[in-house]
Amino acid sequence: MIKKCLFPAAGYGTRFLPATKSMPKEMMPIVNKPLIEYGVDEALQSGLHEVCIVTGRGKRALDDHFDINYELEHQIQGTAKEETLSGIRGLMDECTFSYTRQREMKGLGHAILTGETLIGDEPFGVVLADDLCINLEGDGVLAQMVEFYKQFRCSIVAIEEVPAEEAHKYGVISGEMIKPGLYRVEDMVEKPAEGEAPSNMAIIGRYILTPDIFDILRDTAPGRNGEIQITDALREQCQKGLVLAYKFKGARFDCGSIEGYIEATNYCYENIYKAESKTVREIEVNEESLEAADSEA
Ligand code: UTP
Repeated sequence: MIKKCLFPAAGYGTRFLPATKSMPKEMMPIVNKPLIEYGVDEALQSGLHEVCIVTGRGKRALDDHFDINYELEHQIQGTAKEETLSGIRGLMDECTFSYTRQREMKGLGHAILTGETLIGDEPFGVVLADDLCINLEGDGVLAQMVEFYKQFRCSIVAIEEVPAEEAHKYGVISGEMIKPGLYRVEDMVEKPAEGEAPSNMAIIGRYILTPDIFDILRDTAPGRNGEIQITDALREQCQKGLVLAYKFKGARFDCGSIEGYIEATNYCYENIYKAESKTVREIEVNEESLEAADSEA
């Protein structure tokens, strides 16, 4: 039903300078996989296999990542190292990728509006790849949200409770609980000043949006920081009672900040990388010992 997922990935990533001077923030690896690949994986797991990426100047590495690298792949063909590409090859087989460029970085709302050309007139998911969401216990966050969309057919934002002193970094909602973990949003405010947050429920980087958001965004004036804010456009939808907020299951890391990035790296190393399939070295060691056994025999 929802097929498309938009990845706004044109931001400058200034909190990560100098690393992001010539490299997209979304290509920063968490252990050995770039952030964007975690995001695309999550979208695909939710059934959203049409991947639409809003890029910008200096972001070509993003398109290249979802393409063949003939020279490298030829070089490792038939070796154990080929296994390390199985994840990305799977995504390339199962997803389509389209790109558009945001020429001026006028904010997340503007980036989403830039993506209209790829989305058209249908509901869609939005993933901010620098918010890494992992649910070791079951469905990913976007998949959890898609289930609610099937039931309610309106825009949905993912929320997380944050400490009061952190609320000023986020869009914050107020609303009425209609089911455990699910709220009908009454109001929302982008980056509230200290003491002015309506709650501690902060919007994180996962959304399902209905396509009327594009018309609203077209008429949305620049807000906080002079940027076109998606929160301001969603506020209009929520005044019609058409926005839900969902307190998702799983862990979320703000990989746009140094602290969040380090936390995510440690978490994924312990819980995914170490636990997952064998590393290339282990495969090589196995192959070497098999060869040694063969030659002894
Ligand atoms: P951020 O608020 O994290 O901004 O954007 P940023 O520029 O990426 O990073 P900092 O704050 O300078 O370190 C949230 C998301 O919106 C996208 C970003 O790529 C990120 O995924 N974005 C933001 C755009 O695509 N275009 C914009 O104009 C702004």
